[in-house]
Amino acid sequence: MSTVTIRRPDDWHLHLRDGAMLETVLPETARHFARAIIMPNLVPPVVTLEDATAYHARIMAALPPGMVFEPLMTLYLTEGTDPADVARAAASGLVKAVKLYPAGATTNSHSGVRDLTKVIPVLEEMARIGLPLCTHGEVTDSHVDIFDREAVFIDTVLDPLRRRLPELRIVMEHITTEEGVAYAAEGSDNLGATITTHHLIINRNHILAGGIKPHYYCLPVAKREKHRLALRKAATSGSPRYFLGTDSAPHVDALKEHACGCAGCFTATNTLSLLAHVFDEEGALDRLEGFTSLHGPAFYRLPVNEGTIQLEKRAEPCIWPEKIHSEAGPVTVFQPGFPVHWHVVL
Ligand code: DOR
Ligand code: ZN
Repeated sequence: MSTVTIRRPDDWHLHLRDGAMLETVLPETARHFARAIIMPNLVPPVVTLEDATAYHARIMAALPPGMVFEPLMTLYLTEGTDPADVARAAASGLVKAVKLYPAGATTNSHSGVRDLTKVIPVLEEMARIGLPLCTHGEVTDSHVDIFDREAVFIDTVLDPLRRRLPELRIVMEHITTEEGVAYAAEGSDNLGATITTHHLIINRNHILAGGIKPHYYCLPVAKREKHRLALRKAATSGSPRYFLGTDSAPHVDALKEHACGCAGCFTATNTLSLLAHVFDEEGALDRLEGFTSLHGPAFYRLPVNEGTIQLEKRAEPCIWPEKIHSEAGPVTVFQPGFPVHWHVVL
């Protein structure tokens, strides 16, 4: 196969930021993607329907003329979140999910949840109205090794929560382990899992062997090779449980190449080409569309997109900018470290 045509894809986990960064990164996603679930971890976070409405307006104002894109908004769950506001947000049609960040788990997560029992009334309301909970699935206990934090979250937080509220619709965001893959596989239709592009490509050696590579550092951190292989198998399996959430997370180079570097890989620019490469390697190009364009809408109970996108395998490799430049500073584009020949031909 040297060309593949897929329905226009969606990104079910995306960081667009705000201000100058938003203006720079938004076209990188809108060029290829029809919709995206927009993460709410701004400073301050997007907590209420009012916050989400204002952020939605800023995103639409930053969209270049002629581009069509629908931001699917999320609310940042705090211990003070009002169940009635969440219900109004869902009813408005603007907000498609609520995001659980365990406090301290990642970038701008200090307003997140410390004690899950405090948010049970919100989760009960979400279960009642069918609004999905997106989870950053890592425990933050400093005694738990960073490479084990996802597996421990599944056992000590996610599984008990699902037993307590079986009706709650949950997305395991950016799974990175074979435990995550297996748990999602066993779940009911109420459970989905997103997989990023970069976790299909890098393992922890890419970050640490031969010198530290800050642009490969993200959270959850990439794990051993066996986990990457499990993720590839899941993503290319055709199972509707798994769908694309790039977690494309721009940070300016000054904050990535730093003594205490920020977590995040910026993959919006080249995600589709990279995914075609991965699915081609796995002999699963016929399943690419399910992963990028069908399984996510099915989980979120939204229609699939009408348009299509074509990818073409050419002799010459793709050339991407090394960096994109925002008024906030340069952002390094994720480089896979091997040539990729799948070009997006719109
Ligand atoms: O790598 C990451 N970057 N993981 C996250 O969970 C947050 C994100 C960000 O906002 O930078
Ligand atoms: Zn994220």
